[in-house]
Amino acid sequence: MAKKKASTPQSFQRISVASGDGIGPEIMNAVLDIFNAADVPLTYEMVHMGKHWFEQGHSTGMTEDAKDSIETNGILFKGPMETPKGKGMKSLNVTARKMWNTYANRRVFKTLHGVDTVYSKAGIPINLTIIRENIEDTYGGIEHMLTRDVALGRRFITREGSRQVHKFAFEMARKEGITKVFCGHKANIMKLTDGLFLDVFYEVAKDYPEIKTADIIVDDLAMKLVVKPQDFQMVILPNLQGDIISDLCAGLVGGLGFAPSANIGDNICIFEAVHGTAPDITGQNKANPTALLMSGLMMLRHLGIMKQASIIENALLYTLEKGIHTGDFGDKSVTSKSTNEFAKAIISNLGQVPKKGKAKEMENSESLFKKPVKPEIQKMLTSPKLEKEAILGMDLFIESEKQANEIAAQVKLKLHPGLKLVMISNRGTQVWPSSSIFTECVNQYRIRIEGTKGLRLNDTDVLALATLLSKSLKICSVEMLNLYGEKRGYSLAQGQ
Ligand code: NAI
Repeated sequence: MAKKKASTPQSFQRISVASGDGIGPEIMNAVLDIFNAADVPLTYEMVHMGKHWFEQGHSTGMTEDAKDSIETNGILFKGPMETPKGKGMKSLNVTARKMWNTYANRRVFKTLHGVDTVYSKAGIPINLTIIRENIEDTYGGIEHMLTRDVALGRRFITREGSRQVHKFAFEMARKEGITKVFCGHKANIMKLTDGLFLDVFYEVAKDYPEIKTADIIVDDLAMKLVVKPQDFQMVILPNLQGDIISDLCAGLVGGLGFAPSANIGDNICIFEAVHGTAPDITGQNKANPTALLMSGLMMLRHLGIMKQASIIENALLYTLEKGIHTGDFGDKSVTSKSTNEFAKAIISNLGQVPKKGKAKEMENSESLFKKPVKPEIQKMLTSPKLEKEAILGMDLFIESEKQANEIAAQVKLKLHPGLKLVMISNRGTQVWPSSSIFTECVNQYRIRIEGTKGLRLNDTDVLALATLLSKSLKICSVEMLNLYGEKRGYSLAQGQ
């Protein structure tokens, strides 16, 4: 059982630790036992977070003391956590990443000798880092039912949020000697959102001329990662695509038991395994602590604790190389170890060096840690304003089961001569003025109205028009059609 260090010498850095739910306490104890045996110079402040604290009435799943501890220490080392289902509570894991602005999720996937995969058997080495944007995208969780049949989710990609993650990735690539960085995206379809993510990627890349860059559409990336994973060193992706691609990468190196992750922000960083609470094996002392241990090694290196990180990593690699394994991997003809036995084997191997893949020595690496300084107000991330910004029109979302030409006739009657009805779409496909009779519709339309002859509107005009039209149409939502410089700030409908 891991214990807090009895005495706290000045040089021991204090970090916050949350054991988590399910297998969390079992694997966290195993990892802290290894850290203690390797004399890692850290003091652990255990904090209350997780399912139990939701059930005790803490709406965020953590106590105020836990929040204070993490905001003071700046580092959270956490086990997996469960969010109670069906009670409207938001995932604590996602909340923590967003609340503390840990904008980059770094996940490292490496071939481990002793962990057999189709690639290791074929002699194909994998050493791949995924940097996933960690705050924005669909993880804003902003969803609405526009009608009883139509759910709409919003997807945020921001210029300055993208800049933070790209900058982090390029800095990391420079530090690690990575020679080529890819940006994965779906900008061919999501031209404004993924388009912005991609634009900022190339903008930031200009500051790193020694690093080669390329972009790749995410579906092509998924295929190429399976066919030729050795061609990739680092890939940066928006949040949801990064989540899916990083689980694919976990599969390339032996599964979730070997997938560590670091959530990096400017003030607070969170280190955790990619996997969840594994309820099916909880309390059985058979969980694999490797992913949490590897996340802990990322944390030690982030804190500049290089020597102990290398010693522990070498002991882990040596242990794996010897064929020692928990039940979820390894040679089935060799009896598997319990979580505790596996941790003990690593402890007994401290000081050993593997024959095949030694830990990377990073003697000169400095700590990346900066103690959080509490700001007076929340920081505003913003880019310089363009001189020419205007509202060209509006998209009005309405509920209706009528045909599009009937709606068009109804709308045209109400528009004054300075305004024109440009198009009507259903599920993003244009259904007026031209369409196919085979386009199937649902009970929610988007009506696009623009000013004629360069007429510019303001938000009051738009809302007044929406109010006027609401007398004969059931309105669900209104969106402005903005112009930034020469760039349209809205997409065209399919078929427009
Ligand atoms: P999971 O990752 O907990 O389990 C998937 C499968 O992998 C299970 O068969 C499990 O036994 C196995 N597995 C996972 N970690 C393992 C380990 N260390 N050693 C051996 N086998 C391992 O995913 P699942 O079942 O979808 O989620 C369970 C719970 O975990 C849910 O409440 C979910 O919300 C939560 N979760 C929490 C995360 C976090 O705290 N960051 C991340 C993912 C899920």
